[in-house]
Amino acid sequence: MSHVAYVNGAYLPLRHASVSIEDRGFQFADAAYEVWGVRKGRTLDDDGHFARLRRTLDELRIDWPMSDTALGLILRETMRRNRVRDGYLYLQISRGAAARDHVFPPPSTRPTIVVTAKALNLKILEARAASGIAVVTTPDIRWARCDLKTVGLLPNVLARQAARERGAFEAWMVDKDGSVTEGTASNAWIVDEQGRLRTRALSNAILHGVTRASLIRLAEERQMPILEDAFTVEEAKRAREAFMSSATNGAMPVISIDGAPIGDGKPGPLALGLRAAYFGA
Ligand code: PDD
Repeated sequence: MSHVAYVNGAYLPLRHASVSIEDRGFQFADAAYEVWGVRKGRTLDDDGHFARLRRTLDELRIDWPMSDTALGLILRETMRRNRVRDGYLYLQISRGAAARDHVFPPPSTRPTIVVTAKALNLKILEARAASGIAVVTTPDIRWARCDLKTVGLLPNVLARQAARERGAFEAWMVDKDGSVTEGTASNAWIVDEQGRLRTRALSNAILHGVTRASLIRLAEERQMPILEDAFTVEEAKRAREAFMSSATNGAMPVISIDGAPIGDGKPGPLALGLRAAYFGA
C-alpha cells in the first residue's frame, strides 16, 4: 500500500511529498509538532493535543494556520487515505520556507504543514507491554524549554540511540540534581516505596504529556494516591513499579533501570491497570 502525506494543501504519495531545502524546520528546527495516538480509527485525547499544539505555536510565535475544524478534517483524511485504524498521526508545522536568516521571515511567509499517518502493530505493542521494557539513564543535555513540542530533538535522538546500543528501549534523562526529568519520547513514572504514583511536576523541564494528564485523571478517578514530584534515579531503582507514558505507548511498564530490576522484575499491576484503563480494555 502506498503511503500518503498531506503537504501544504495536497495529499501526495510519500515518495512525491517534499518541502523546500530552505524550510526553516530543516534549517533551524524552527517548527512545532504533535503526535496523536490512534485506536479503532479514532484519535485519542484530541483536546489535549490541540491545546498543546496551540500553546507551542503561540510560544514560538508561529501563526495558527487554520481552524481546529479544518485541521481535524485533514487529520482524519490523512488517517483514512493511509487506512490507519491503530497507529499514530504526526503533524509538523514550521515557520515556512525563506532565505536562510535567523530572524523571522517576512509575515507573508506561509507556515509549512505536513501530516503523516502510520499503522502500528498492536500485537507487537501488547507483547512489549506484557514483557515490559528496559530503560537506561543518561544526563539531560537539552535546552530550557522542554515544555515546547519542537522538532529540535537531537539530544533525544542521541539518548535514544545510546539506549538502543545498551539494549534498552528508552532512556530516562537526569538533571543536575540527580532527578529524572523524562524519557526521550515519553514521561517517566514510578510507584514509589510508599505505594504512591509519582511523576515529575509540570515545568519547563519536561514536555506536558497529554497521556500523562489522562493517566493522572484516571488514577484520581480510581482514588490512587498521586504525587507530582521529581524522583531520583536511586528512588526509581528502589520503586515498586516503574513505567513510561506517551501517545503511542499509553502506559508502558518498565522492568529495569540501568540493568537493575524494578520490583520483582515484571510489569507492575498499577502500570498494567492504568494501561488497560487508558486504552479502554
Ligand atoms: N513523544 N516527553 C517527550 C520528550 C515526548 O517526546 C513525548 C511524546 C512525551 C509524552 O507526551 P504525550 O503523552 O503527549 O505523547 C513526553 C511523541 C509520542 C513522539 O515524539 O513521538
